[in-house]
Amino acid sequence: MWGGRFTEPLDPQLLAFTSSFDVDRRLLRWDALASIAHATALGEAQVITAGDAEAVIAGLRAIVADFDSGRLAVVGEHEDVHSFLEATLYDRIGVAAGRLHTARSRNDQVATAFRLALKEQIGALVGEIRGLMATIIDRASGAVDIILPGFTHLQHAQPVRLAHHLLAYVWMLDRDTARLADTYARADALPLGAGAIAGISFPVDRRRVAALLGFTRITENSIDAVGDRDFAVEAVSSVALLCAHLSRWADELVLWSTEEFGFATLADRVSTGSSLMPQKKNPDPAELIRGRAARVLGNLTTLLAMLKGLPAGYHRDLQEDKPATFEALDVARGCVRAMRVFLDGVQFIPQRMEAAAKRGWLTATEVADYLTRKGVPFRDAHALAGKVVRRAAARDVPLWELPLPEYQEVSSSFGPDVMQAVTIEAAVESKDVPGGTARRQVVEQLAQGRERLTRIEAWLSAASQSLAVAQRLAGG
Ligand code: ARG
Repeated sequence: MWGGRFTEPLDPQLLAFTSSFDVDRRLLRWDALASIAHATALGEAQVITAGDAEAVIAGLRAIVADFDSGRLAVVGEHEDVHSFLEATLYDRIGVAAGRLHTARSRNDQVATAFRLALKEQIGALVGEIRGLMATIIDRASGAVDIILPGFTHLQHAQPVRLAHHLLAYVWMLDRDTARLADTYARADALPLGAGAIAGISFPVDRRRVAALLGFTRITENSIDAVGDRDFAVEAVSSVALLCAHLSRWADELVLWSTEEFGFATLADRVSTGSSLMPQKKNPDPAELIRGRAARVLGNLTTLLAMLKGLPAGYHRDLQEDKPATFEALDVARGCVRAMRVFLDGVQFIPQRMEAAAKRGWLTATEVADYLTRKGVPFRDAHALAGKVVRRAAARDVPLWELPLPEYQEVSSSFGPDVMQAVTIEAAVESKDVPGGTARRQVVEQLAQGRERLTRIEAWLSAASQSLAVAQRLAGG
């Protein structure tokens, strides 16, 4: 591929050390499709003859077909997938294969294949996240009337509906899909035509190549195009946050399934036993969702550290982009899928949740709000409510069982209606603002969540249409 200037081949140990073939073989299909688009444009611009273009395209299509049917052995000692592809094409069609690399460098070639692969993987991940969101919304719609403690500082704070709590994760995931869609949009530019660094000296129509491959734009600057890996950093950064979200939830579910919390029990199919302790049932899938997030955070650091010392243009360091990015996306997809399956075996225990919500005077804020409504300044009301809590604690009763005279000794503003106002049901109902815990607000939130599902569905179908454009190049 570059032997002319050299009198001996690369040391086999260094070939093995520098090769990216193990990882970038995943780009094979995209690299072949991008090569078909490139050959098409070379032929159309008469940079190569129509006959050569046809031979190259037919050869590449046969390679794709063989790859799809599992007949192509993607093996051997190659520097990378690009050299493998060219060598394979050469074996099949002979010298015409040597014309494919006209007006192209592996630098713009790899950036193109990588962007295409990333578009595909982002699409697949967003599809997976959407599935998880749908599962959560489903569970939430059956949990509107289950009340549990809301926690701040992991201490009992205020009662909330289980549906509301579950939906919190839907919005985190929704933002994750939005970030990924954003990343996708920025990755959606064609680098081919940037050459090695300076552009190409043949009249290849870059916009035509972009259209053939389903890219919405072409890159603006050839130096930037071959050195830019922002799209990979953004993808892994979005994925790191996604995994952090899943990890938070996994951690919570581990907690909820403890004897002490008892908010959830795990079906046998989603838990594992102990080799020593016969009674054990462990939440291993959740622990591994939490544990694997660590890898993705590491991958983000890998990418940023790889980039930060590189002047403009291509450097071989950039080859480290693919293992870090692919692993992050694979791990994330696995985690989202695992969470969905795991969740299906998580059984929430409403009685335990409600019993917990009734302990610890979670509705003390209602006492203060009650007084505030009677005209007491909130700061004073807060202090008076604190006194009420102290009395309830002394008697060891919930606020709705503290006798009215006790309330009235604290403040003459208390009337008998306070008893109703301090129940957990009244407390959740009183938060009747958008985003609050009142029943109708949570029902509205469920509708908003479903609306997001529809929007994400529309995005997914646009993304898959864009990828299908490139797929058509495979012919057949
Ligand atoms: N395997 C390389 C990579 O992944 C492809 C580009 C190689 N270019 C070069 N000039 N060595 O980045």
